Amino acid sequence: MTSDELRQKYLDFFKSKGHVVIPSTSLIPENDPSVLFTTAGMHPLVPYLLGERHPGGRRLVSVQKCIRTGDIDEVGDDVHLTFFEMLGNWSLGDPSESDGIGRAGYFKKDAITWSYEFLTAKEWLGLDPLKLAVSVFAGDEDAPRDDESIAVWKSLGVPEERIAHLGKNDNWWPAGGKNPGPQGPDTEMFYWTGTGRAPAVFDPTDARWVEIWNDVFMQYDKQPTTNNRQQGAEKQYQFIPLKQKNVDTGMGLERTTAVITGTDMFLIDTMKPLIQVVEELSLKRYSDGGEIARAMRIIADHVRSAAFILGDERGVMPSNTRQGYILRRLIRRAVRYGKSLGITVPFTATVASTIIEVYGEAYPEFQKNKAVIIEELEREEERFGVALDRGLREFAKLTAVDGKVAFDLYQSYGFPLELTEELARERGFTVDRAIFETEFQKHQELSRTASAGQFKGGLTDHSGIVVRLHTATHLLNAALRQVLGDHVWQKGSNITAERTRFDFSHGEKMTEEQKKKVEELVNGWISRDLMVEKKILPLEEARKSGAIGVFGEKYPDTVSMYTIADPATGEVISREFCGGPHVTHTGEIGTFKILKEEASSAGVRRIKATVEG
Ligand code: ALA
Repeated sequence: MTSDELRQKYLDFFKSKGHVVIPSTSLIPENDPSVLFTTAGMHPLVPYLLGERHPGGRRLVSVQKCIRTGDIDEVGDDVHLTFFEMLGNWSLGDPSESDGIGRAGYFKKDAITWSYEFLTAKEWLGLDPLKLAVSVFAGDEDAPRDDESIAVWKSLGVPEERIAHLGKNDNWWPAGGKNPGPQGPDTEMFYWTGTGRAPAVFDPTDARWVEIWNDVFMQYDKQPTTNNRQQGAEKQYQFIPLKQKNVDTGMGLERTTAVITGTDMFLIDTMKPLIQVVEELSLKRYSDGGEIARAMRIIADHVRSAAFILGDERGVMPSNTRQGYILRRLIRRAVRYGKSLGITVPFTATVASTIIEVYGEAYPEFQKNKAVIIEELEREEERFGVALDRGLREFAKLTAVDGKVAFDLYQSYGFPLELTEELARERGFTVDRAIFETEFQKHQELSRTASAGQFKGGLTDHSGIVVRLHTATHLLNAALRQVLGDHVWQKGSNITAERTRFDFSHGEKMTEEQKKKVEELVNGWISRDLMVEKKILPLEEARKSGAIGVFGEKYPDTVSMYTIADPATGEVISREFCGGPHVTHTGEIGTFKILKEEASSAGVRRIKATVEG
């Protein structure tokens, strides 16, 4: 079976179950600068999972382009990719309620039964049921064991020993259940890829059992308890059953194609041509395995992601911020591995040409953006190529690598921090990220001051007001959540010297009274001159301390978090994952004023606000 065939079968199967096919959205989420890339098929559906009506009805199916860079260091092993296509089917809402065009929603029984049918029926994937295992949510103090799913699996003939019961880190989505918002238990399907018969008992830690599909049952809304603002409150969150229960599933196309065909994932129909080009360029063989194969996998994966980002309908260019930085990192890491394979000519564009051939039919935007993809790769590779040699020579001389050195390598040779970290790891060093950040900020400030001098202060004022507006935006977010409720999530934000623009999930127009209340809250916090504090800390710790992230977003292991709090009482007003910059005390902000509240898109409102004084 080819990837094209699997893609088509998946869509056909769910069409036969009353689903409407929706197209893949862009890799760059619209109106949501808080998340860099679309990471799952559910991402563009969030408003509908929260109750907004979808024009396609209650049953949807799609193939969504996804980028997940959280596991970038794992790429090179058998199962990880930064770009992948996610096959997914959804039920939005209540099984008892029709969508008006004859298709009601569904829940665990149908979702699981159909998953099983698609995987095992001869006319669909025809996988061997004896090689199938599943995991379900084991239950904890927040939510009970998912007995309903267990019962459905058993009714389909899956034996008890093949049903693992696991906790929130494995069988909950978004994984871990740390963030507030809609979420729930999931059940994952695994296929035995080892030789011979599958063991009778499913051991989820045995890598030969490969996860191929995840059915998520979004049935809870995690909300702060009313007294959550008091420090030390015993239970800060509660899991409230959602009015609208949803099904959200995800199957990785590349991984599943590999499993069905019994092939190395990098040798399936779409990936093999890429590996072959790298073989030709490097005059080495993939079958030699070890570091050679790993480097080839990294190049194939990274250039593929880069091509999809550049060729996206909302494509971005390599830069030093946000998506552009990730793109740069991917390209530069690929170039570095090309060098380790002994490739001496520019090669990323050559690999990309093959990618465009492979995907041109499924993704027409590729044909359209072909020139951009090729030119930008050539340009970025050229920019980095020369500096890489010199930087690597410098690096080889080092006897230690600290954050300051990492910053020098960044500035002089264009080494992304993560590349330096990787090189450092290979030599047994670690880089202190906090020092790198400090150096980075010092540098930013210096260059800002330098240009401010040139422009006679105009820019200083400019950046000053933007920083004030930025902190005000965090307060606005906190106030909206207090006044309207915790269904409010940031959907987008954009700040200019004139105003902040903030998009957030909320179904209806705000009343005058609500707007007034929000203004009063924000101005109240400003007048208390609260402390604004930045901390760089492990992701887990940040989550535990209640930082608000973005639903479905994957964060790096180390994050930067801003807290706005009253130092006298310890009361936390706002805590967000954010890179800054911010004012140090809210008193610097001035008077906050809402200019306008309006609709932005379905289920999303937009506020424009400013600060004065
Ligand atoms: N949203 C779920 C996932 O990404 C299906 O695994």
